[in-house]
Amino acid sequence: MKASAKVGAVWLVVMACVVTKGMSEGRSIVVGDSQGWRAGTNYTDWAVQNSPFRINDTLVFKYPPPAKWSAAPSVYLMPDLWSFVTCDFKEAKLVGRPTEGSGEGFEFQLNRWQPYYFASADGSGYDCIAGLTKFVATPMN
Ligand SMILES: *[C@@H]1O[C@H](CO)[C@@H](O)[C@H](O)[C@H]1NC(C)=O
Ligand SMILES: *[C@@H]1O[C@H](CO)[C@@H](O)[C@H](O)[C@H]1NC(C)=O
Repeated sequence: MKASAKVGAVWLVVMACVVTKGMSEGRSIVVGDSQGWRAGTNYTDWAVQNSPFRINDTLVFKYPPPAKWSAAPSVYLMPDLWSFVTCDFKEAKLVGRPTEGSGEGFEFQLNRWQPYYFASADGSGYDCIAGLTKFVATPMN
């Protein structure tokens, strides 16, 4: 095999890996960037800046562990738009317990074609009702 053919073959393998990897893994996005997941925070701009979300993108939620003087942070997935808007946590699924956000945080992969409604139930849901510490991520591809 000539040297150029070898280089070509190696290049093909590398490209195949890049394409495969790109298709299945998606981005890893820290929710709220360096601020992380915080009470009383508006995530609208963050969500707009990181849109469009794609299938297999991974959201990383980071928040401090529970402390005596503050409500325990957590992450809920709301079942539908109505419960998201009205902050009805009855059918909500707890996806991040208060202790799970410390250090590297925890990961949530967007692996379905559906809107994902995230909200915090901090402070009896007052943040949620005020439109804070909540966002929708809808994978587009
Ligand atoms: C998402 O990841 C799964 C499992 O790794 C993979 O089978 C699927 O093809 C990926 N989907 C996209 C659109 O990349
Ligand atoms: C959040 O920020 C967006 C865009 O800056 C703004 O339109 C919206 O009114 C804000 N929401 C709240 C509850 O402050």
